[in-house]
Amino acid sequence: MLRESVRRFATDVVGPKVREMDENEMMDPAVIQGLFEQGLMGIETSADHGGAESSFTSAIIAIEELAKVDPSVSVLCDVHNTLVNTVVRKYGSKEQKDKWLPLLSETQLGSFCLSESASGSDAFALQTRAVPSADGSHYTLNGSKMWITNSWEAEFFLVFASVDLAKGYKGITCFIVPKELGVQVAKKEEKLGIRASSTCTLSFDDVKVPAENVLGGVGKGYKIAIEILNEGRIGIAAQMLGLAQGAFDKVIPYTFERKQFGQPIGTFQGMQHQMAKAAIDIEAARLLTYNAARRKEEGLDFTKEAAMAKYYASQVAMSVSGSAIEWAGGVGFTRETGIEKYWRDSKIGAIYEGTSNIQLQTIAKFIQKQYS
Ligand code: CAA
Ligand code: FAD
Repeated sequence: MLRESVRRFATDVVGPKVREMDENEMMDPAVIQGLFEQGLMGIETSADHGGAESSFTSAIIAIEELAKVDPSVSVLCDVHNTLVNTVVRKYGSKEQKDKWLPLLSETQLGSFCLSESASGSDAFALQTRAVPSADGSHYTLNGSKMWITNSWEAEFFLVFASVDLAKGYKGITCFIVPKELGVQVAKKEEKLGIRASSTCTLSFDDVKVPAENVLGGVGKGYKIAIEILNEGRIGIAAQMLGLAQGAFDKVIPYTFERKQFGQPIGTFQGMQHQMAKAAIDIEAARLLTYNAARRKEEGLDFTKEAAMAKYYASQVAMSVSGSAIEWAGGVGFTRETGIEKYWRDSKIGAIYEGTSNIQLQTIAKFIQKQYS
């Protein structure tokens, strides 16, 4: 039922806006409003906090379905659910959950602010500082964050900052920073793909954050960040899976309409074998993604499986969307069909929430632990 309802929303509400949002590099506010109204912004949040009280797998399915139509809308929903909401649900105090989860389910878009200009893969080398006041009532944040998804539209920011740079990553602390405290959007990036999804540099200039907004304890931020990213990577795998399926679904009917040499191009064996291989790749990406989600839901270790799913689904998204352009021929290369957009959007899968090399490194650590 969830899959069907997200599919309908994606097709009917998002679909007609995809090209315009991509060209204008702007998310239509009506789409964000629609996501809230559909109950897709608090998928795992309990009903008494205004959420849909559904499962992680439901979130994964929603992200996949949205990505079939628009990977930008998908990542907006993904970051809000699998990163932002999950941090508050998992690590927030009762007061923090009571205060923020209803807002996050119903009205406020959230951002997850970890990366900085000099710390991307090496995320724990971040330099944003949070200096405690003498009376312990608040922290003063200074620094800047780069590449922050949703930050153009967001009102709620989870900011990772160090209370003591000398402690290395053990100083990293997670803060709830509502926009009105002084979060400044310094620059909006112009991108190759997922152009409707906002990606901005933020600056924090003497932003005073109440001590009650420390989330999960002082010095616990690094563990919160990576544990949430382990889960979030399954979300990106789902985004890339949906993207690959969306490109496939868009181009295949065309191959049975378009005729060359007196027959539909989709009936040539050279084409059919390529399509069959793409279908296998998509299915394998789906199984890796759902398996990682299942392991997480069952309380089993899933870090390695999440890294595998993200790595593989990102590769499949690039290869299938690239093939889709070729299968459509010249028209696939034009803006008109929307096929080239899937290819542009696919490239980000190998970069955010840990690059493909970082996923390989994560998997390799498990192999070394098991065999050495
Ligand atoms: N799971 C749990 N804990 C982990 C972990 C993992 N996958 N990787 C490392 N850790 C822990 C270690 O156990 C260690 O903690 P303790 O000291 O308590 O044991 C600590 O982290 C440091 O370990 P390392 O020295 O091995 O870690 P590192 O400094 O070399 O790198 C890392 C760690 C920064 C997490 C790196 O592996 C990584 O994942 N980099 C990518 C960062 C990333 O994913 N950024 C995403 C930003 S959000 C985003 O991108 C959203 C979006 O686009 C939509
Ligand atoms: P670098 O870390 O400089 O990596 C460059 C290259 O070096 C990569 O190929 C990488 O694999 C390789 N490399 C680096 N270290 C190693 C190593 N140890 N071994 C092998 N290879 C290595 N961040 C957030 O905090 N929140 C967000 O919402 C967010 N959204 C994003 C949205 C977009 C569109 C983009 C582009 C980025 C976003 N990010 C976000 C940041 C993203 O997580 C980082 O870009 C990513 O982690 C890579 O960091 P980097 O760009 O600094 O690349």
